[in-house]
Amino acid sequence: MNMKGRHFLTLLDYTKEEIEHLLDLAIKMKKGEVKKDLKGKSLAMLFQKSSTRTRVSFEVGMTQLEGHALFMDMGTTQLGRGETIGDTAQTLSRYVDGIMARLYKHSDAEELAKHATVPVINALTDLYHPCQTMADMMTVMEKKGKIAGLKVVFFGDCGFNMFNSTAIGFSKMGADVVACCPDHPNYSLNEKVMEKAREGATGKISVEHGPMEAAEGADIIMTDTWVSMGQDSEKAKRLQELRPYQVDARIMAKAKPDAIFMHCLPAHRGEEMSADVIDGKQSVVFDEAENRLHAQKAIMAELMG
Ligand code: CP
Ligand code: NVA
Repeated sequence: MNMKGRHFLTLLDYTKEEIEHLLDLAIKMKKGEVKKDLKGKSLAMLFQKSSTRTRVSFEVGMTQLEGHALFMDMGTTQLGRGETIGDTAQTLSRYVDGIMARLYKHSDAEELAKHATVPVINALTDLYHPCQTMADMMTVMEKKGKIAGLKVVFFGDCGFNMFNSTAIGFSKMGADVVACCPDHPNYSLNEKVMEKAREGATGKISVEHGPMEAAEGADIIMTDTWVSMGQDSEKAKRLQELRPYQVDARIMAKAKPDAIFMHCLPAHRGEEMSADVIDGKQSVVFDEAENRLHAQKAIMAELMG
């Protein structure tokens, strides 16, 4: 399977077989069964927003692949002074072999990809976080041995990047994804994205407003912050409106006894989940964080190798 030179902006652009190939490669590379390298290659990492996991996992990933990663705080580049995304993409493409970008607007990631002649990897925009979902699906493969047929319930804000990528990736791999959110446009599904997600899905994507009903029989309980980057001005309102959707012990008790709790991190104990849930036995959040490294190494090796 040849993915060389392709962008990685959203899982909508990748087939089930391609995703399976990347997950399989990531698991084999993690176990040391397959070795890949990007010797002499460089990755530019362009950040418009904060990061801990993404920055470190991409940079360490490039080091482990014997390549090099450059951290670029967008505000201190000429982009911050008005240079166009197009000119930046063309310039960076003359130096590096891949561009990783964490941007506010997904349309800016598309603009970057349009002008870059090297692969652009989306490291989170308002619409998608595909690298996180790859790490999440890899974690589920390790914990459950499969994705197809599982019930994934996502609690809280189902109108933003993490829900979108979760719905696209997991339903494409055959899991049923349930959005558990308030009946309010701020937190409801992005229907344009869901329409495309459903085209490539073998699992169902549905909505259930009642938390206890949604959790019933779940294999995976997932949530994300109630206040994403860029939403700080709505903080008080969001904390109040999403309060009934906190994942707590009562929710976990409704799920299957062997259900796992997932969160992309960073987490806010006492908000989107209680401390006992994220710090409890069913939580796999640090496996997800670790798998960012392995999943992204496989993606970079295939796209930039
Ligand atoms: N999950 C995730 O992307 O974490 P960071 O914001 O720390 O990169
Ligand atoms: N939805 C969150 C994810 C953080 C990794 C955000 O966009 O801030």
